[in-house]
Amino acid sequence: MSLSLARVASPDSLASSVHSRGKDYVLYRGDSLALMEKFDEHTFDLIFADPPYFLSNGGFTCSGGKRAPVKKGGWDESQGIEHDHEFTTAWLKACQRLLKPTGTLWVSGTQHVIFNVGFAMQKLGYKLLNTVTWFKPNASPNLSCRYFTHSSEIIVWASPGSKGRLQHTFNYQSMKTQNGGKQMRDVWTMLTPRNAEKEHGKHPTQKPVQLLERIVEASSNEDQVVLDPFCGSGTTGVAAVAKGRRFVGIEMDEQYLELSRRRLMAAPRP
Ligand SMILES: C[S@@+](CC[C@H](N)C(=O)[O-])C[C@H]1O[C@@H](n2cnc3c(N)ncnc32)[C@H](O)[C@@H]1O
Repeated sequence: MSLSLARVASPDSLASSVHSRGKDYVLYRGDSLALMEKFDEHTFDLIFADPPYFLSNGGFTCSGGKRAPVKKGGWDESQGIEHDHEFTTAWLKACQRLLKPTGTLWVSGTQHVIFNVGFAMQKLGYKLLNTVTWFKPNASPNLSCRYFTHSSEIIVWASPGSKGRLQHTFNYQSMKTQNGGKQMRDVWTMLTPRNAEKEHGKHPTQKPVQLLERIVEASSNEDQVVLDPFCGSGTTGVAAVAKGRRFVGIEMDEQYLELSRRRLMAAPRP
């Protein structure tokens, strides 16, 4: 389907969808692999993907100062490295088709998935632009004391094509201004989401709005269209509409989709 948010308001029947009155977002419930096929190529200016990290495999973490099992949901369980890689390759390929030549893809991950993502991107012909390190100064301690404290995530930034002149959107000057007049570097120090960001409900892997606002501002312009194929609690959408962009989110879990809807309804607009 071609994308005009007003027109998507009468979608084909594949997924349930929720639409905003102001027409600056639309949320689809369903499998992103199936739904992404429905959009025309070159539809989106920016895609942010926070995919399953395949973390929920019987390990332990620290929650509220106590040892707790890592159990984010069935969607986060590994089905073996080959299967996980096939899944990663499939959704990355779908994103590549959907991006405009000026658009870019951001993918977040930890060691559990990010090398898989990077390898698939290189094989598909993406041009890697940066790997941003998100440093979390308030990360939970490591209770086993057998590792360094996990306190960062990698966010790969890439353009869909590796050939020809780079055409991607990068708001260099805006980033420099935000960084006090110095070039913005690729290590970003930001807290994990505070309680105020969870007032509409919780998601086990919620990203901070500040992180998504920087991504949106750096690599898209006002009124452009942002896609998140693993929408979760809708953080990308909240940041996108707050910065005057339009948003399309896909999420397979009905409760998380409803959480996204509540957050998007309440999100500030410029
Ligand atoms: C890592 S979380 C995203 C969290 C999000 N960035 C946020 O700030 O809330 C991944 C989400 O993708 C959803 N998901 C996993 N596989 C999916 C699929 N094939 N299609 C659609 N949603 C999927 C999960 O239900 C989960 O909510």
